[in-house]
Amino acid sequence: MALKVGIIGCGGISNSHMSGYKALGDAVEVVACCDINFEKAQEYAARYGIPHCYPDCYSMLKEFQPDLVSVCTWNSAHAECTIAALNAGCNVLCEKPMAMNAKEAVAMKEAADKNGKLLMLGFVRRHGNDAAAARDFVEKGFLGDIYYAKASYLRRCGFPGGWFGDKSRSGGGPLIDLGVHVIDLARYIMGNPKPVTVFGATFDKIGARDHIKTTGWVSETAVDKPIFTVEDLATAMIRFDNGAVLHVEASFNLNLKNPTGDINIFGDKAGLSLDPFELYTECNDRIADIVIHGDNGFDFHRDFDREVKNFYEAVSGKAPCLATAEDGVELMRILDAVYESAATGRSVDIVRE
Ligand SMILES: NC(=O)c1ccc[n+]([C@@H]2O[C@H](COP(=O)([O-])OP(=O)(O)OC[C@H]3O[C@@H](n4cnc5c(N)ncnc54)[C@H](O)[C@@H]3O)[C@@H](O)[C@H]2O)c1
Repeated sequence: MALKVGIIGCGGISNSHMSGYKALGDAVEVVACCDINFEKAQEYAARYGIPHCYPDCYSMLKEFQPDLVSVCTWNSAHAECTIAALNAGCNVLCEKPMAMNAKEAVAMKEAADKNGKLLMLGFVRRHGNDAAAARDFVEKGFLGDIYYAKASYLRRCGFPGGWFGDKSRSGGGPLIDLGVHVIDLARYIMGNPKPVTVFGATFDKIGARDHIKTTGWVSETAVDKPIFTVEDLATAMIRFDNGAVLHVEASFNLNLKNPTGDINIFGDKAGLSLDPFELYTECNDRIADIVIHGDNGFDFHRDFDREVKNFYEAVSGKAPCLATAEDGVELMRILDAVYESAATGRSVDIVRE
């Protein structure tokens, strides 16, 4: 029998979730959607032929208890909507970042545990061919001892607009929006070590840069004079419990030549970079680069469909969940510590209760 699906938040990224559910064919049926902007929910329902739509998640969950729920709201509503869906007996795929902070993230994980339901995180980069190849090489010991990593997501002129600049709805700027992808991916490739100490800095030197004419991606909620109460650049050093260190940097706006989205992982036997996956090592007393044949990159549309498929398969007991709530909580602990360190100018120890 088809698993029933509900969508909470009918904006930009919810279309990618819908693509993933559609790709599952008869295995699932999207039965309901909701958005606090009810017109948006109605348009979305009409676009995809969804039989029921609602102005909030509570009215949706009262009438339907879908097996699978995608939470695609802005960040400040992730915790509330996810907990409501878990308490209604649904399994949840929640968009990144998991929440506004670690306290909310812990409450979400507790709700999943209490209800015996799956809470999966939308860390789409974990589903790429590059990530799969990297994990394979790391697991088989090709990198040796991994002791350093670098993760960059730098845009020159890439503030998406809309709520992304409003800290009360986003929780922060490029660190929580973009940094979250690359910090998680680096940590995943490294084998999910636990963060212990963080030193971070954030800057708001350039701002929204909304006067620039650009052809880049903009949020559906973009407006002419956007609120901009977030950082435009964040950088941090994260030390893990195995002694390894990750250097991360993320910007909406920065005066650099070329935007980058680089992951580099360094071990004592080899290093690697992603998208596409490449390995840097020694061979026959020479310095050697190893490029494996085939598609070893990340493809947003293909890998988004894979993420939704993994959610369905994990709920159905057919595959392990690739992005657990536990990993989401660790990520939020890192982000909290970066913002705290940036505010105080001191390094922050991550303490787990
Ligand atoms: N995985 C990715 O690569 C990726 C890409 C873009 C966005 N995202 C994430 O997806 C989420 C949504 O981003 P977006 O670009 O689609 O934003 P969006 O503004 O286009 O859509 C968000 C929608 O949520 C609705 N909403 C807000 N609070 C709600 C609530 N309490 N109940 C129901 N609906 C509510 C809004 O009205 C809006 O329609 C964010 O968390 C963002 O970080 C992820």
